[in-house]
Amino acid sequence: MTTIKLQQSGREFSNPEEVKSFLENNEVIYEQWDTTKLPEALVENYQLSDEDKQTILDTYKEEIADISERRGYKASDVISLSSATPNIEQLLENFNREHHHTDDEVRLIVSGNGVFVIQGKDGEFFEVHLNPGDLISVPPNIRHYFTLADNRKVVAVRIFVDEAGWVPVYEETA
Ligand SMILES: [Fe+2]
Repeated sequence: MTTIKLQQSGREFSNPEEVKSFLENNEVIYEQWDTTKLPEALVENYQLSDEDKQTILDTYKEEIADISERRGYKASDVISLSSATPNIEQLLENFNREHHHTDDEVRLIVSGNGVFVIQGKDGEFFEVHLNPGDLISVPPNIRHYFTLADNRKVVAVRIFVDEAGWVPVYEETA
């Protein structure tokens, strides 16, 4: 279940239809992928070998191919963040800085949680609290940042157009 929280008003909602239409109105792609496909040993596993990461990509091969065809994505990889990650504090500090990209930023949550904080069309920032199976795509040039939930752990698939396009652009806009 995905929860949206509007930062200014504090309003929260998690009704799936409401979440979907709110994100659609803000041009954010939102999908739910089948988590039951994931091999048992990789569920909530944050210590992933390269082979494990490949297994995750293979598990969602068809879904990745499908969205890539629709959106022109060309590459994908898997990231894992937890208290075992070296420099986790520094990484989180970087993630917490508002930025945009010139391409879509796509994340599928595989384990744990992630929070995207995104600037809505009305200028107000909203939080999207994501759970395993949730896929989000933040469109180009939309200001946002990513952070972890209180459990501070996530495994996510990243899907790209190309590596140059998702480099964060941190310059403040007036
Ligand atoms: Fe980003």
